[in-house]
Amino acid sequence: MAEPGSVFAPEGTPDRNLALELVRVTEAAALASARWVGMGDKESADGAAVDAMRVLLDTVRMDGTVVIGEGEKDEAPMLYNGERIGDGSSPEVDIAVDPLEGTTLCASGSPNALAVIALSERGSMFDPGPCVYMQKMATRSEHADLLDLDRPLPETLSLIAERKGTDIRDVMVVVLDRPRHEDTVRQVREAGARIRMIPDGDVAAALLAVTDRSPVDLLWGIGGPPEGVLAAAGIRCIGGQIVARLWPRDDEEREAALDAGYDLEEVLDADRLVAGDDVFFAATGVTDGDVLQGAHYESAEGATTESLVMRSRSGTVRRVHARHDRTKLRDYARAERDA
Ligand code: FBP
Repeated sequence: MAEPGSVFAPEGTPDRNLALELVRVTEAAALASARWVGMGDKESADGAAVDAMRVLLDTVRMDGTVVIGEGEKDEAPMLYNGERIGDGSSPEVDIAVDPLEGTTLCASGSPNALAVIALSERGSMFDPGPCVYMQKMATRSEHADLLDLDRPLPETLSLIAERKGTDIRDVMVVVLDRPRHEDTVRQVREAGARIRMIPDGDVAAALLAVTDRSPVDLLWGIGGPPEGVLAAAGIRCIGGQIVARLWPRDDEEREAALDAGYDLEEVLDADRLVAGDDVFFAATGVTDGDVLQGAHYESAEGATTESLVMRSRSGTVRRVHARHDRTKLRDYARAERDA
């Protein structure tokens, strides 16, 4: 029997060609939502991405269950949590999707909107349950042991500076621009470190923070749990580390999480957020960004996309530049209409 990862994957084991099938899915979502860039309509942009992704997902050879999707069944007609997707054939996998990560970024034509998908063996993805937020920190491998959600952020930034053999003023942390981060932002400024404030999009920010020779040393802040799981899947492939902890907003959310059996003290690292041995991750740029160029409708001939496709087992990170011709784009549009 062939080893997992060989061209002849044994029954039930994700085939490495799945990576390329997944990138077709994120390309379709990015091409569809890119039509809405700057139009001020984030719902339509998201809807276009969901429709495009859903159509292509059913052609992928897998028996997938959506663990991280567009919400509960009654809120989301497609890609809802628990939905079965794929053509139903082996392997059995968990799926996390964010057809448009950074809906507002897309609607305002701002950088770093992405279409993202991750996949791993059935039962291996963390289901965030009722919590709407999660504390997160992510950095590249050299600083991974310095991640600590309980240490004051300025101290961690000093430790990173020390490790880099530089001054704290040379350290850069990326933070979502939110009122809940104001106190910490002030402390970081007092300590002298630099901050890159982002309006949205902490998946792209996490990928940037773990990338070698990145201008950003650390991602810190409270953001969405689905985005935390997706970032963890990317990090399982690309390297680096993320630590996270559920962050209930109020007593009601705390009680709901405790009743559902969640340990609110637990620190979740990349291996806990996506525990599988064989993790696949694909992302395609919607708008131009630090990690990926956006989908560009360039001429009568068609459009171009840039994607990242990665697999944890091999550690291969591929950057896929694709040119999509008009006929193909029309096929996507037809498939969406017929769905
Ligand atoms: P959407 O794509 O759903 O708009 O999410 C964008 C995002 O900025 C995420 O990257 C981030 O994790 C989350 O929203 C933060 O949530 P909030 O905007 O409620 O602070």
